[in-house]
Amino acid sequence: MIIALNNKSNLNKEEFDNYLQEFTTIKTNHTLILCPTFINIGSINNNDLLIGSQNVSSHEDGAYTGEISAKQLATYNVKYAIIGHSERRTYYNESNTEVNRKIKKAFESNIIPILCIGETKEEREAGKVKEILEKEIITATEGLTEEEKEKMIIAYEPIWSIGTGIIPTNEEINDAIMFVKSILNNTKVLYGGSANEKNISELKKITSIDGYLLGGISLKLDKLKEFINILN
Ligand code: PGA
Repeated sequence: MIIALNNKSNLNKEEFDNYLQEFTTIKTNHTLILCPTFINIGSINNNDLLIGSQNVSSHEDGAYTGEISAKQLATYNVKYAIIGHSERRTYYNESNTEVNRKIKKAFESNIIPILCIGETKEEREAGKVKEILEKEIITATEGLTEEEKEKMIIAYEPIWSIGTGIIPTNEEINDAIMFVKSILNNTKVLYGGSANEKNISELKKITSIDGYLLGGISLKLDKLKEFINILN
């Protein structure tokens, strides 16, 4: 399974150094992708880790103050990039079109996008889950080759589950994942949103899941280790 760890805007330099020391002691056959903040990526000195960024610029190198390009990230051994996380869509107004540009930039630098998609609570209640997911996938993958579509990773993250402790039923998650797979036949699909060491024994019954995108427990390594043990 793929386990992507989204540290979000957490861990100062000292905290990250300590975190990394403990993180590197985790032994698992699962694929762990660590996604620290940009500045913490810069302080990683370990070629054995799989590194992801939490965002990528939709532009090339150049006059884009504050942005970090895929080309630059690739030189820091970044192999994955979370793109279109709901926090970016909500707080930084990232549109599906912008997400599409970012995905293309990532691929140009051999970085595998982890595209986040998911519905709000209101959209779910209005019965619009599939409509939203389809629109997010179709726009975000426009112009990609079949090979790129297979290579990329989708993270299905119901927005109302992120950081709330509330998760959909296994049936709801499976329905959403199977729907994504009906559009992108051979693409890996992760589940994200309040997945933790307490609910993983229930979540792991969903056989369509190819892995998890973890936020909160990515910061608590004792809980992460428990999560991985239960998943095994
Ligand atoms: P969470 O975050 O696990 O804290 O809900 C997941 C995410 O935002 O990717």
